[in-house]
Amino acid sequence: MLKRISALVVAGLTAMSVTACGSGSGGSGGGDSITMGFSQVGAESGWRTANTKSVQDSAKNAGVTLKFSDAQQKQENQIKAIRSYIQQKVDVIAFSPVVESGWDTVLKEAKDAKIPVILTDRAVDSKDTSLYKTFLGSDFVEEGKKAGQWLVEEYKDAKDPVKIVELQGTTGSAPANDRKSGFQEVIGADAKFQIIASQTGDFTRAKGKEVMEAFLKSNPDIDVLYAHNDDMGLGAIEAIEGAGKAPGKDIKIITVDAVKDGMQALADGKINFIVECSPLLGPQLMDLAKKVVKGEQVQARVVTEETTFTQDQAKQVLSTRQY
Ligand code: AHR
Repeated sequence: MLKRISALVVAGLTAMSVTACGSGSGGSGGGDSITMGFSQVGAESGWRTANTKSVQDSAKNAGVTLKFSDAQQKQENQIKAIRSYIQQKVDVIAFSPVVESGWDTVLKEAKDAKIPVILTDRAVDSKDTSLYKTFLGSDFVEEGKKAGQWLVEEYKDAKDPVKIVELQGTTGSAPANDRKSGFQEVIGADAKFQIIASQTGDFTRAKGKEVMEAFLKSNPDIDVLYAHNDDMGLGAIEAIEGAGKAPGKDIKIITVDAVKDGMQALADGKINFIVECSPLLGPQLMDLAKKVVKGEQVQARVVTEETTFTQDQAKQVLSTRQY
């Protein structure tokens, strides 16, 4: 009997932790504890998994009650989640917008309900910046530029055209738009760099593989692959090997993120260069959330610090990589 009662108690506690992590009374803004409603993009990549873990762990450590939802890469799901957080009267809403446009109405609803909003990881294109308190995340244009700068240096002595294929992230997302434009800005200064095919791989490994297979069929002489994230690059590596070519040698590969699997492929010589994009946004997000709930001023834009990795650098840091 006692065993059955304790099993029921454990089951009850487990069920509670599915929807809310951390501690605190939540929703009232009372005391120091706050409740955050967080709408995540999805679980499309290694980066996203690490980002979700960072947000959930940091909420626990900071004593923030977290209501978490996964939008499965669909804007309509994010809008529903935000509306539900407004109804639940959370203290603060944070979200990583799957695409840049189409947020004004729901952000206005949050503002009218006096619930502060923090953008994390990805930006929105709303003209009215009073609809959110701050935007914490990477400079994606800069990431695209770093990818382009490595390419320009790598091919500085080449006389022939350099034929590039590009695997773009989710169509309409800030990282896809900005990583494309930053890269283009740098390589566009020299006409020998030619993007011969460019298509979305939706930031997933499966789609990266599928699109790369199609690229290889219609373009027999690809020199370089620029993939907007590691996962698409890793899928593309499978396609390249399947076509009997050597990734990193027959086709040079540049990716973005620097998650462990990507860094392993870089150390193994299958990727040539990775631009880092850090998913560890949780601790800064919790700090910002506490401040905006208290009504303190925060910087309108907080840019994440990031680096780049060559194959040799990957070998040195691989064993200590956190994600
Ligand atoms: O918004 C960040 C991007 O989203 C990461 O680079 C990618 O892996 C993820 O899916």
